[in-house]
Amino acid sequence: MLVHFFLARHSTEAFGDLSVIQFPELCLFPWCQKNGFSAGREFVCSFKGMAVLEAIALAKFYGSVPAVREVTFRLEPGQVLGYLGPNGSGKSTTVRVLTGLLQPTHGQVLFEGKDIQNNLVSYRKRLGYVPEEANLYPFLTGQEYLEMIGTLRAMSPKRMKIKISSLLELFSLFAHRHVSLGSYSKGMRQRVLLIAALMDNPDVLILDEPLSGLDVTSVLIFKNLIPAFSARGKSVFYCSHILEVVEKVCSQLLILRKGQVIAYGSADDVRRRIGQSSLERIFLQLLEDRDVVQVANEIVDVVVSPS
Ligand SMILES: Nc1ncnc2c1ncn2[C@@H]1O[C@H](COP(=O)(O)OP(=O)(O)O)[C@@H](O)[C@H]1O
Ligand SMILES: [Mg+2]
Repeated sequence: MLVHFFLARHSTEAFGDLSVIQFPELCLFPWCQKNGFSAGREFVCSFKGMAVLEAIALAKFYGSVPAVREVTFRLEPGQVLGYLGPNGSGKSTTVRVLTGLLQPTHGQVLFEGKDIQNNLVSYRKRLGYVPEEANLYPFLTGQEYLEMIGTLRAMSPKRMKIKISSLLELFSLFAHRHVSLGSYSKGMRQRVLLIAALMDNPDVLILDEPLSGLDVTSVLIFKNLIPAFSARGKSVFYCSHILEVVEKVCSQLLILRKGQVIAYGSADDVRRRIGQSSLERIFLQLLEDRDVVQVANEIVDVVVSPS
């Protein structure tokens, strides 16, 4: 698997995980050292176990209100990290910091060992992002919107055309490509957002509640798409408050509560540590401090009450 890393900064770390037998390209290392690659010089080589995306002690305050506190995780090539938590737990805030849309109050986001703030443009070129709420221009057609994204991403016109028409076809939107986004259903707009995130072949895909409004067939395609994508060495940060799909597609899990990490590790580790096989039960146990049955009954009581 080919990845970038920054030799001077990570050489010790990376050497620890390297396997010369698995990765014959390592013969490049002595050459790099001899030729004095210094901090910040990029070099392409092979290794395993190094993070492509890393959050270090991230914190984000809105005024004095903490939305995210001391969040640390790493995402390696080929990993799918499920970032789980109830509404309001800080998932979208984390995503906005990870994509560089918001500056963290404290902490850092590293992409291939470098702070993303140092070169947001080239970082974003490697990133695909499906936001939780997108303001799609309602007067543009699906195709026009994707062409705008492709142009902003500096894709070549030929490549952009091929990718857009193939992906529109595969996401069952080709017949609607000349219809304005304003008349698309929620699920159709969500599919357009997925195409926009995928069309430039990103190395890291950041998804914030990507299934909202999707039809059953698209959900099934999505469930298979994520493992197929990660099998190509791509990394996925998958943010959701719904367990069903996350449980099936994620290799790593991080559970967030009120902006803080309460469990993080491989999906199996998280289950094992908590001692339950059903992630759903773990999730409810960790996150739900309300008696949902009681609240449901109280709502009905209020609704049917004559006063
Ligand atoms: N722009 C904002 N200004 C102030 N508070 C915000 C803003 N965005 C989110 N919050 C608050 O930060 C917390 C985390 O929100 P968010 O990151 O959207 O959580 P999630 O995506 O898990 O639902 C919530 O308490 C929310 O009300
Ligand atoms: Mg959110």
